[in-house]
Amino acid sequence: MKPYRLGQIGVGGRGVVFYQNNHIPEEGFEIFAGADVSDEALEQFQKAIPTAKCCKDYRELLAMPEIEAVFIITPDDLHEEMACEALKAGKHVFLEKPLAITIEGCEKILRTAMECRRKIYIGHNMRFMPVILKMKEIIDSGVIGEVQLAWVRHFINYGGDTYFHDWHSERRHTTGLLLQKGAHDIDIIHWLMNSYTEKVSAMGMLSVYDKCHRRTDGKPGKALWDVKNYPPEKVKDFSAVIDVEDSNMIMMQLKSGKQCTYMQCHYTPDADRNYTFIGTRGRIENCGIGANAQIHVWTNRAQGAGSHLPDYSYTLRDITGTHSGADPAIMKNFREYVRDDATPVTSPIDAMRAVMVGVLAHETMRSDMSCRTLPEIPADLVEYFGAQAIK
Ligand SMILES: NC(=O)c1ccc[n+]([C@@H]2O[C@H](COP(=O)([O-])OP(=O)(O)OC[C@H]3O[C@@H](n4cnc5c(N)ncnc54)[C@H](O)[C@@H]3O)[C@@H](O)[C@H]2O)c1
Repeated sequence: MKPYRLGQIGVGGRGVVFYQNNHIPEEGFEIFAGADVSDEALEQFQKAIPTAKCCKDYRELLAMPEIEAVFIITPDDLHEEMACEALKAGKHVFLEKPLAITIEGCEKILRTAMECRRKIYIGHNMRFMPVILKMKEIIDSGVIGEVQLAWVRHFINYGGDTYFHDWHSERRHTTGLLLQKGAHDIDIIHWLMNSYTEKVSAMGMLSVYDKCHRRTDGKPGKALWDVKNYPPEKVKDFSAVIDVEDSNMIMMQLKSGKQCTYMQCHYTPDADRNYTFIGTRGRIENCGIGANAQIHVWTNRAQGAGSHLPDYSYTLRDITGTHSGADPAIMKNFREYVRDDATPVTSPIDAMRAVMVGVLAHETMRSDMSCRTLPEIPADLVEYFGAQAIK
């Protein structure tokens, strides 16, 4: 069988797990070439896949006729240009989240995919996380009744390692971290609540990292990843430019009339995504997101106030693979989508809605904190990409 040839733009950072998981000649998939501006990243890539071609200019990779689909795993502000160029070059595209950093950018990517009749798949890997899938199963079973509310808290202890050391700390690369990180959770809230945001209000502030030690050498920053980096006041060399918030809080009114909150903080000692869904007959809450994560379920009323143990709990065991197994699973879904026309689990329209919430939330938290209404996505795009989207 002729191998299905894949290209990869961005082979360092997050990109490493992509070439590690997708060069599987025995299953008919081959990473044919990689492009990166970093010599070091290309060197590691070449070592891992000696047969692959390497280039520094991604356009060179896009010009290779052997390549049928590409992974784009580069910083967020490059997504729009790279995805559009790849689609115009006739490639199917796996694009890391967020789809883009502006609403206009999202629309441009979707329109280009539609006009070029190429597939666009967004890397919302949380849709493949076992803890999220279990919560979805519990909600869909009806055991907690009709879900009315989602309250989501996001604790990030590696904020200082990455987001305030490298490109993430600047609006021009991300728009802001509510969009950058929150795109995942907003998508999951929409997916599990089976509706999407119509109105959003938000507040956020920069109150910790702006007071920490900063680089002055003018060099681009690199992520550090070290548990010793805590508390932030003891850490050195944060980005010279920090114009994004280090905490955010948003409120979302969904089309269904249901309501949600999402809160994000970048300087906690622990890391977790804590979701609570409250329905008309109970509530669920997860504690932990990876191996040994628990989901607690309350369906009986307790006497009075005070501690109330859950009626029952699930513990998720035997979870392997990066991002709790979500990475290998999303990549498999993409490969099967582009080669065999399998149904994609993520949706470009839903990915655009997550970006819209993030963009408008940042807009309002940086001005009067008033409520913003999401614009309608053009009808032709909804019709074209809508099959998988939340209705
Ligand atoms: N889904 C997830 O769980 C998840 C997790 C982490 C990151 N991400 C996303 O993955 C993307 C990459 O993030 P990262 O942390 O790996 O970033 P990064 O800064 O490590 O960059 C990734 C690679 O892109 C390369 N690159 C930068 N500019 C380039 C250019 N012009 N041409 C070719 N290569 C270029 C870099 O040299 C690097 O090797 C981002 O969009 C991020 O939001 C997703």
